[in-house]
Amino acid sequence: MAERSPWAEDRARAIVDDHRAMPGALLPLLHALQEEFGCIDEPAVPLLADALNLSRAEVHGVVTFYQDFRRTRPGRHVVKVCRAEACQAVGAESLLDHVKRTLAVSEGETTPDGAFTLEAVYCLGNCALGPAVMIDDTLHGRVGPARFDALAKTHRAEDPA
Ligand code: FES
Repeated sequence: MAERSPWAEDRARAIVDDHRAMPGALLPLLHALQEEFGCIDEPAVPLLADALNLSRAEVHGVVTFYQDFRRTRPGRHVVKVCRAEACQAVGAESLLDHVKRTLAVSEGETTPDGAFTLEAVYCLGNCALGPAVMIDDTLHGRVGPARFDALAKTHRAEDPA
């Protein structure tokens, strides 16, 4: 389970200070902030704009352009289902339908109990072993409905009661 801190201005400023001198610092900074906080919180936008001498609109534009960046904090587990071509050819769309039905969420949504956030992605680099699913940082290959159900059950069982 990913540990994610709530937004903390001091921690965010320290992350910005660590990365701001990098060339093209905005994307690495956004990834670092999302890694720490689970999403790009609203106060991150003016903080990054000031630090990198960009307009808020520019930062906001990048955050909304890239699918990788979340605007809301995810559930305890993030489920990414690949729907790119190679996985589609071996049943990714029906797997995705199954995952949506099983979790009772659509893409981008979090289950009411906060356990899972579902994301559809385009290639997890596991094309020969589709359908590919990533749960938190672990990649799973050849995932069918029954295997997904077992993985979801295992992750729920790991959560604190
Ligand atoms: S197409 Fe699914 S992992 Fe590459």
